[in-house]
Amino acid sequence: MADAEGFTVKLARSSKEIFVPRGGSILFALMDAGISVPFSCGGGICGSCEQEVLSGIPEHRDFVLSDEERESNTSMMICCSGSKTEVIELNI
Ligand code: FES
Repeated sequence: MADAEGFTVKLARSSKEIFVPRGGSILFALMDAGISVPFSCGGGICGSCEQEVLSGIPEHRDFVLSDEERESNTSMMICCSGSKTEVIELNI
């Protein structure tokens, strides 16, 4: 499980690591770090912020993915979802 304070997002293509505080948004943490990623609604309903998950287990909080897609742990909506693992690696 991610620790009480948050989790780390590893960005595979840019070799960066971004810390996301517990309850915080991966999307906003990336934007704060100057990394630009597509998004629209910011609330888990449009699907535009979907990113491929390379390792780690997302804590899905969106309204876009099906149950099968959630269980596959291969993608996530980074505006609203978190991580169940201390580190989650995205294909960014
Ligand atoms: S920005 Fe719409 S689901 Fe994330």
